[in-house]
Amino acid sequence: MLRTIVVAGALLLSVNAVLAQQDLVDKTQKLMKDNGRNVMALSAMVKGDKPYDQAAVDAALKQFDETAKDMPKLFPDSVKGLKPFDSQYSSSPKIWQERAKFDAEIASFAKAVSDAKGKVKDLETLKASFPAIGKSCGGCHENFRQKDG
Ligand code: HEC
Repeated sequence: MLRTIVVAGALLLSVNAVLAQQDLVDKTQKLMKDNGRNVMALSAMVKGDKPYDQAAVDAALKQFDETAKDMPKLFPDSVKGLKPFDSQYSSSPKIWQERAKFDAEIASFAKAVSDAKGKVKDLETLKASFPAIGKSCGGCHENFRQKDG
């Protein structure tokens, strides 16, 4: 009886630990989806499909900035191999094999965002800042995002 309780307790603890890690993976996915939406919004302005919208630009840059700050904490060893529940994309194992390179991608994303912050005031300045941000998204995905679906 006691043994059963101990085993059940241990199981429950490890289930909770896995759930906490899954929360982290799902949080990362949510941030990335928000990144995606914001990049689409900026890109529509750059292409002239949508009028320039300062509030939307500021919100996008704020969200990128928060993502850049969160990213170093979102990929501990414990989430290695976990995937978001409902997604075509997941983290590549290379994140944990080539950590220094991955950290450098986070740093270059953070730099592109901080260079843009406070500088984008109109369509011209958006056009000047947007490519560096887009490039840093793509640079990291090329090596560290894997397509599952
Ligand atoms: C330092 C690395 C890195 C940077 C920078 C980065 N991403 Fe990602 N992104 C990832 C990883 C790893 C995944 C896979 C994990 C996931 O899907 O949650 C991902 C997944 C995504 C997804 C798929 C989300 C899903 O699961 O449906 C989108 C969309 C996305 N990123 C957009 C962006 C955009 C836009 C930017 C730039 C503004 C960006 N990312 C910057 C690493 C990065």
